Amino acid sequence: MSDQDFRSEPSAQIAPVPRISIQAFCEGADIAAVLQDAMADRRMNKAHMKVHMGGAAAAVEAYRNAPTPNLIIIESAGDRATLVGQLEELAEFCDAGTKVVVVGRVNDIVLYRDLISRGVSDYLVAPFSVVEVIRSISELYTSGTSAPLGRVIAVTSAKGGAGASTVAHNLAWSIATDHELSTILVDMDLGFGTAGLDFNQDPPQGVAEAIFAPERLDQNFVDRLLSKCGDNLSMLAAPATLERSYDIAETAFDPLIDILRATTPVAVLDVPHAWNAWTRRILVGADEVVVVASPELASLRNAKNVFDQLRAARPNDHPAKLVLNNVGVLKRPEIAPADFGKSVEAEASTIIPFDAKLFGTAANNGQMIAEVDAASKVAESFSDLARQLLGRSEAKKPKKTLLQPLLARLSRKKA
Ligand SMILES: Nc1ncnc2c1ncn2[C@@H]1O[C@H](COP(=O)(O)OP(=O)(O)O)[C@@H](O)[C@H]1O
Ligand SMILES: [Mg+2]
Repeated sequence: MSDQDFRSEPSAQIAPVPRISIQAFCEGADIAAVLQDAMADRRMNKAHMKVHMGGAAAAVEAYRNAPTPNLIIIESAGDRATLVGQLEELAEFCDAGTKVVVVGRVNDIVLYRDLISRGVSDYLVAPFSVVEVIRSISELYTSGTSAPLGRVIAVTSAKGGAGASTVAHNLAWSIATDHELSTILVDMDLGFGTAGLDFNQDPPQGVAEAIFAPERLDQNFVDRLLSKCGDNLSMLAAPATLERSYDIAETAFDPLIDILRATTPVAVLDVPHAWNAWTRRILVGADEVVVVASPELASLRNAKNVFDQLRAARPNDHPAKLVLNNVGVLKRPEIAPADFGKSVEAEASTIIPFDAKLFGTAANNGQMIAEVDAASKVAESFSDLARQLLGRSEAKKPKKTLLQPLLARLSRKKA
């Protein structure tokens, strides 16, 4: 799928598959290959899948004397009567709770209805893509829940100080304000994070409580840790104190991200510049990744490495978005955006000029760029980046940009 397809198709948003066991029994090497690729996808990393050959007949043999997994995927190249016979035999050995998905090559609605009426959960017609398989499996285990499916956007920088936190905070603000989606910003820079400063808040609790007390973590607990930064925006602030050291386990953020995904339309993760097991896991697992870089050589080398790693680890996702920041510093020799994009193999989604006064004022006042100057091109750039990440073709109400931040400021002052 092309970048454009992903952006224009909100349904590309697929919930990660939970911790289930899956056994597949294929006949065709092409279908086995698609399933193998699906297994390696980020959305399947909690599930365990084994792909066997031999089709439905092999499945019947395998489960005669063995317990069945959560999900069995079988391919049948035989005719309808053979398939139905095999399914009936399989049903005798299936443990309660085991679901069956059938894969075939005949696009036939009568067959589909027949299979569903026999308790088959889905019928997939080959050829299908990796993403289609994952969506089918995901929907079996998530569509019953009414929880909204949240989008997780991770923002990181190619080099410290390139502006990832600034972009993450302004992006979260724009998603909440311009695009009116309930948003939670998570400051993952535990020792040095600036989300509290940037939103002029000093909450006593935040993200550290969420990851260091996993036994207490549920939606209510997360709600109590949030501090409100606007009508639709809350944050989990970093402690930004150094009494303890922050050695974070690879999966430390998993439970929190699961809760955010199930309860909040958008989570923006401010990921510090580092390449650890846990930062890598967050970037690979996010629905969208934004890499912020300055137009200089070290940022270019690092951005290229990050893009290469993410491309390899997320083969079924569109590439990370490149934000070029601090462009146009007086007298500084810079790499032209087009050359930068060519090396990284990703055109810059957004180019943000260096503006010491605007960004310095925002930082000192604990305000977002749009609160300092709603009409600035920079504020518009953040809104446009939000629009790209949300897959929206146009900002909802383009002309309100001037008035809305003013009103938001007034109502915040009153509060
Ligand atoms: N385009 C810009 N022009 C001027 N200053 C900027 C710009 N972007 C970010 N800054 C400033 O640069 C500093 C570092 O930004 P920060 O977002 O903390 O970087 P990172 O999170 O990548 O380490 C901050 O003081 C911020 O206000
Ligand atoms: Mg930062």
